[in-house]
Amino acid sequence: MKLLDKPRQALGFYRSLKQSISAGDSAHMQAVKAIARHPFSRLDNEVFQRIEDRRAMLEGDSSLIEFIDHGAGSGRPGARTVSQLAGASKNAFWGRLLYRVCVAIESNSSLELGACVGVSGSYIAAGSCSLTTIEGDPSLAAIAQRTFDENGVSARCHVGPFRDVLPSVLPDIGPIDFAFIDGHHDGDATLEYLAAIKPYLSDDAVVAFDDIYWSESMIRAWQSIRADAEAWIDLRTVGPTAS
Ligand SMILES: C[S@@+](CC[C@H](N)C(=O)[O-])C[C@H]1O[C@@H](n2cnc3c(N)ncnc32)[C@H](O)[C@@H]1O
Repeated sequence: MKLLDKPRQALGFYRSLKQSISAGDSAHMQAVKAIARHPFSRLDNEVFQRIEDRRAMLEGDSSLIEFIDHGAGSGRPGARTVSQLAGASKNAFWGRLLYRVCVAIESNSSLELGACVGVSGSYIAAGSCSLTTIEGDPSLAAIAQRTFDENGVSARCHVGPFRDVLPSVLPDIGPIDFAFIDGHHDGDATLEYLAAIKPYLSDDAVVAFDDIYWSESMIRAWQSIRADAEAWIDLRTVGPTAS
């Protein structure tokens, strides 16, 4: 599904994003907030409402999952409620921003590492022609796929560790216009995934990373990514304070 019903708005977003690249941190955030809060169409809002209704349902779900963590999260294997796990999803503000970026760059093919229950993936997929996402925990992957299906977005969730799944999916989905790396949160692993994805990126691709200040290794990875990138923006705060 692609909801590009306001092309001029999308163009305006892209221009402001480019302008914000050379500005200071607070200017970035002001620009980003203005962009994410700019009025959306009725169609956009209907999609967002469906995604948020599904999120609310999952946040109220107390069923237990034997969570398999392939990332650098809490490191504690074991039972978690769906509600607890759904709490790791990006909030509506960041979801809308992800959506806006995908619409603005007219993403045909988007990729996400770290589906969780499918919330950010739904926003990305709504703004793209299609999304491929990967989730290491099989129960979460099944929930994410159901989220996509119920939200009516074109997205497929593959199950398994990023390292194992990427080689088989990448040749089928390139060129990738937008990638969101929101999983492992380990610096070396992040660089490894980026290196794997890079040959499949389109010329003007946008790659977004979450939790770049999670640890020393993530900070180092972010520094190296920035040094290599054509342009970058550090949005600093990802979380409820930006809502
Ligand atoms: C922060 S959550 C993703 C949140 C989601 N992007 C959202 O905002 O709706 C990170 C997810 O990545 C998964 N994950 C972490 N490391 C992984 C790895 N190496 N391989 C596969 N999945 C991984 C975790 O199981 C978790 O569900």
